[in-house]
Amino acid sequence: MNDINSVREQLLSQLESLEDKKQILRANELRNLYGAIKDQPESERAAYGQAVNALKQELEEKVAEADAGIDDQVPIDVTAPMDANAEIPSLLPTEDGSIHPISREIQIISDLFYRMGFEVSPSRELDDEYHMFTSLNFPEGHPARDDYDTFMTEEGLVAPAHTSTMQNRIIKARLDRVKSGDPIAVLAIDRVFRNEDLDARHEHTFHQAEGVYVGEGITVGDLVGTLKTFLTGYFGKEVDAKITPFYFPFTEPSFEFSLSCPFCEEDEYCKVCSSERWIELLGCGMIHPNVLKEAGVDPERYTGFAWGCGVERLIMMKYDIEDIRHFNSGKLTFLRQFK
Ligand code: DAH
Repeated sequence: MNDINSVREQLLSQLESLEDKKQILRANELRNLYGAIKDQPESERAAYGQAVNALKQELEEKVAEADAGIDDQVPIDVTAPMDANAEIPSLLPTEDGSIHPISREIQIISDLFYRMGFEVSPSRELDDEYHMFTSLNFPEGHPARDDYDTFMTEEGLVAPAHTSTMQNRIIKARLDRVKSGDPIAVLAIDRVFRNEDLDARHEHTFHQAEGVYVGEGITVGDLVGTLKTFLTGYFGKEVDAKITPFYFPFTEPSFEFSLSCPFCEEDEYCKVCSSERWIELLGCGMIHPNVLKEAGVDPERYTGFAWGCGVERLIMMKYDIEDIRHFNSGKLTFLRQFK
């Protein structure tokens, strides 16, 4: 039995240094022990055989533990205070997260307008028909209300389809300002919702940046100048913009600003702009006298302009993103490009 004990100690210490732990099970010393069973006196043979088997089993267990990466020599106490000097192996490859491109660009857009003297405020994600339509000079039952593909709750509340839903509140809350001779200059930037068919340019949830400016002697020239200054700042260069007359119930005159499509290839169908060569970016105009009056401003004395701009459209044109659906796709390959 003594020889078994000494072989055991020898094999256990060999095991420590072995790269391939399984080799220990093929050790000559172990084989010799098995060979020695038959040479034992009959009275001791059975016990000797059992002891050799027990040793083999012990070695097999140690090999299996090593395979599973279990090291029972060093139990880990997860509740122990951390050793500040310990080297901590990294168990998982880690990666820093980053701010979502929409959030980042909203910050950039807000900063640009802030520097032009605008206050920046959020919009709402639930509103009523008065703010979404009536206060904006949409007559009751007018078909233009249907153009907005608005989601409504059973109680008649609306998920705003445009940030213009804030115009009446923005002006009403700042009447003292206009009367004291300072203009109202506010940018409301937030989510909006539309129940429409989805494609490369349309999502049910997207963002708009609504600008409202009211004061004395404000003209279309101020509107165009403000928007061009913003677009030049945002894109870092002068952009090719087209201004065309349009219709909105809440502005008169009304315009649409389009930017030349950066995705078009000569002679090929462009799925981003449907080969129209221009991408509509924002609606704008001089605030309709009825909208000013409804908010408590005398339209004989004060004028103003407003616009509503699709935030995703801006970002898509800045970074050549061809499909609006990438933003909420959760695709890391897309998001990592903005780190
Ligand atoms: N609310 C309009 C839309 O979503 C965009 C718009 C047009 C906003 C003209 C304005 C405006 O403030 O003056 O289609």
